[in-house]
Amino acid sequence: MINSTERKPYVSYLSKKDERFAQKFAKQHGLKFITPRNLRISDAHKLVIWISEGKISFQDLSLKNSKPFKLNYLNFKKINSESSLLKKCFSKKDIGKKVIDLTGGYCIDALEISSMGFSVTAFEKKTWLYEFTKQCLGDISHTDLKDSSQRINFICGDSLKLANKFRDHEIAYLDHMFEIKNDARAKKEIQFLRNLDLNDFDFLAIIKLIEKKFIKKIIYKSALHTDTKSLINLNPSRVIKGKAFKYSIFHIDQEAL
Ligand SMILES: C[S@@+](CC[C@H](N)C(=O)[O-])C[C@H]1O[C@@H](n2cnc3c(N)ncnc32)[C@H](O)[C@@H]1O
Repeated sequence: MINSTERKPYVSYLSKKDERFAQKFAKQHGLKFITPRNLRISDAHKLVIWISEGKISFQDLSLKNSKPFKLNYLNFKKINSESSLLKKCFSKKDIGKKVIDLTGGYCIDALEISSMGFSVTAFEKKTWLYEFTKQCLGDISHTDLKDSSQRINFICGDSLKLANKFRDHEIAYLDHMFEIKNDARAKKEIQFLRNLDLNDFDFLAIIKLIEKKFIKKIIYKSALHTDTKSLINLNPSRVIKGKAFKYSIFHIDQEAL
C-alpha cells in the first residue's frame, strides 16, 4: 500500500553538546536534523525526537505545555489490569502458543500479551521508533514488567517479510494505525504516533502471510466502524468492542486454505 500520509519527526538536541549525536541519529534513520531554534520558528509540524546524552525522547511541541517523554509502561494501566479487552481475546486454548506482534510500535500491547505468560515476537519497521521502544523496554525496572519484557523478542524490520521465519508462532496480533473520531482522550504517547501516519499497513501482505499456513488465529485491533471482512476477506469468529475500537478475532482453518 502506498503511504501518502506519512510525516517524519525532526531530530534535534536539548543540549548543545549532543548536537553531533542528534545529527548522527538523523542520518542513520533517514530523518531531518533541525536546530532547536529553527524548530521553534518552523511552520511545519512540531513532532521532534530529542537526543540527549545518548538517550532518546519524543515531544510534540504543538501541544500546549508538552514535555519530552519516554515511555513509562506503568502509566498504561491496562497492561496489569486483569479485565482489559485485549486479555479477553485470549482463551485457555491459547496457553503455550507463541504470538507474533506484526505492528510493535511502543510494544505496550506486546508487553500486555507477554504479561499473560506468552512469548511474543514483536516487529517494528520504523528504525527510529524501534530504537526508542528498545530503550524504553530496557529501562523497565518494575520487577513484574521486567519479567514480561524478557518474554518479548523485539525485532527491527517489516513483519510481513520476516514473519515467515517464525513458523512456530500460531497467533498474530495486528494494530495498525487507524483514525479514531474522538481522539481527545488518547495519551500523548499514542497521539504522537497517530500524528505521524495512518493507513500504514499492507493488507494484501497479510493475506499472503495467512497462506503460508502457520498462523491459526489473528487478533486485529481496528476502529469500531472498520469493515474487517473487506480488508482480510475473513469473517471474525468473535468481536470484542470497546468505546473507541474493537478487536476482531479470526480463527483460520488452515486445512481449508
Ligand atoms: C498503532 S502502532 C502499534 C502500537 C502498538 N500496538 C503498541 O502497543 O505500542 C502501529 C505500528 O506498526 C508499525 N508497522 C506497520 N506496518 C508494519 C510492518 N509491516 N512491519 C513492522 N511494523 C509495522 C508502524 O510503524 C507503527 O509503529
